[in-house]
Amino acid sequence: MQLLPDQELHVAIIMDGNGRWAVERGLPRTAGHMAGVNAVRTVVEAAARRDVAMLTLYAFSSDNWKRPRTEVNSIMQLLVSRLPAESKKLSREGIRLSVIGRRDRFPDAVLQAILNAEALTRDGDALHLRLALDYSSRAALVCASQHLNGDVRHNLEAVQHALARAYHTETLVPDVDLLVRTGGEQRLSDFLLWECAYAELFFTPVRWPDFDDIALDEALTEFGSRQRRYGRVVEVA
Ligand code: FPP
Repeated sequence: MQLLPDQELHVAIIMDGNGRWAVERGLPRTAGHMAGVNAVRTVVEAAARRDVAMLTLYAFSSDNWKRPRTEVNSIMQLLVSRLPAESKKLSREGIRLSVIGRRDRFPDAVLQAILNAEALTRDGDALHLRLALDYSSRAALVCASQHLNGDVRHNLEAVQHALARAYHTETLVPDVDLLVRTGGEQRLSDFLLWECAYAELFFTPVRWPDFDDIALDEALTEFGSRQRRYGRVVEVA
């Protein structure tokens, strides 16, 4: 169920490897997250110049609350300190930012930074950047199922609407075309399970802070070489 204009892609990225990037340099893990934000900026700018209509970044999973308090606090602090300036830049670039995930467990300052960033960038139409924060795909599906009633059991569109509600967004949930995971692991970690039904998967050992426009191009080139069959048989000439 495609919901973006033809030829325009939904790229989703599991930004993994910040901690190892830092430890490999003798730095605290939090330095990896700081460097990770710079990579976010590089990749967002690069995506806006490519045929990417939507970019969804996994920035904080619901399971990440289980990390040491100091690390969680530093990621929350990064959001508070970086979102205001970043969203001003995004707004100038015509990039819309929205956040998917739960909103009831953030410190007030984080929630306020999210709401401000969404309000400031809401008219952007060059690229839709979504940050997944306190995000769990399974939890979103459970939440969506509570918005469904018995009549719509086999109706994909009804699930799309219910998921959009669960994500606190009026935008329907477009299929992911390309899912990238950095950092060398090869798993989905509860990210966009519904939307990745037909996603092409691209795994790279590159740590997230080192992922840049060239790395994005490599993933897009590989994606371009894949044959997407959606269960069909493709005739060989
Ligand atoms: C995964 O690396 C990364 C995270 C859990 C946090 C990512 C968050 C950001 C880049 C900050 C986003 C903020 C803004 C303002 C966009 P890891 O820590 O799991 O790395 P490891 O697997 O090497 O330990």
